[in-house]
Amino acid sequence: MQGHTYLASDRASGSDSNQQSFLGLTAVIRSAPMRQLMHTVEKIAKSNAAVLIIGETGSGKELVARALHHHSLRCSRPWIDVNCAALPDHLLESELFGHEKGAFSGADSMKQGFFELAHGGTLFLDEIGELDLKMQVKLLRVLDGTPYYRLGGTRKVTSDVRIVAATNVDLREAVDKGTFRRDLYHRLDQARLDVPPLRTRMEDVQALAEYFLAKEAPQLRFSAAAMEAFRAHSWPGNVRELRNTVVKAALVAEGDEIDLCDLPDELCAADAVPHLTGRTLDELEQQAILSALTETGGRQDRAARLLGISQRTLIRKLKIYNGQETSRGVAEAVAR
Ligand SMILES: Nc1ncnc2c1ncn2[C@@H]1O[C@H](COP(=O)(O)OP(=O)(O)O)[C@@H](O)[C@H]1O
Ligand SMILES: [Mg+2]
Repeated sequence: MQGHTYLASDRASGSDSNQQSFLGLTAVIRSAPMRQLMHTVEKIAKSNAAVLIIGETGSGKELVARALHHHSLRCSRPWIDVNCAALPDHLLESELFGHEKGAFSGADSMKQGFFELAHGGTLFLDEIGELDLKMQVKLLRVLDGTPYYRLGGTRKVTSDVRIVAATNVDLREAVDKGTFRRDLYHRLDQARLDVPPLRTRMEDVQALAEYFLAKEAPQLRFSAAAMEAFRAHSWPGNVRELRNTVVKAALVAEGDEIDLCDLPDELCAADAVPHLTGRTLDELEQQAILSALTETGGRQDRAARLLGISQRTLIRKLKIYNGQETSRGVAEAVAR
């Protein structure tokens, strides 16, 4: 990898086999786990089963939901998405089920709810784990096919929707705690898709970084060190964090390259971690002792404290190392 640069514009044009488009959004899919996931998506898309999508925030749950709709027999019918966490309950209820004119103050005209609007298509319920228990009951009734009324209405409404729900909370744990209804959980979980966190799919990190850079600033490229830092980072905010990191780095980069100095501290810190692979535990221990002795100017009592061991243990280890050829560095540090 050393010395290799990654040209974002290499991938900016032409058809890229790693990219697929769903309802106007482009998905970059290169790693084996994501390819496998997309394969499952295509397989279950054709049924009407409710699908529960589970994954960390920013990992791409909404994108996967859109892919499901895209591959379904309902693809030419409406796609409606609702963020259950974004609205207070009374508003969410009228958004989902609609209201008649005059149902409450401010209801100047009749409004169809998302269930009606999604008729024949897919209703995506994002952040379903945030629904309170009362709304869970109402939702379950409608999902079970019970006709419902718009708020303030007297005429029964039915709608044919395929439900796709997403959450980043552990719903099984919520069920055990009593904050999520077991019956609703099973109703939503007729099929399940787990979106793996970005840190488990390094191939996607590079492909996504190149894709976002090509969109944002095609004249720029990543230095090898910058790309290495991308690969070493754990991406707790997943793809969303990666996209924002690329956008910000492109803004501050000088010249034609995004380098380490253009990246936020948390990515550079990863670079400062010494490479631990390919070394034995013994070698690492010697390295730690050497660093501690160097840092304390050879003072064994302080070095032992730094290492979290007793001075006796340190002395014992030094005696062992002094008998070994590989420990020249340690012996020299002790001699000073
Ligand atoms: N595989 C991917 N390819 C391209 N963009 C992606 C991919 N996964 C996620 N994104 C983008 O990252 C952001 C977060 O994804 P999103 O689906 O909203 O995550 P979640 O719903 O899990 O929080 C969105 O802007 C989305 O378009
Ligand atoms: Mg989301």
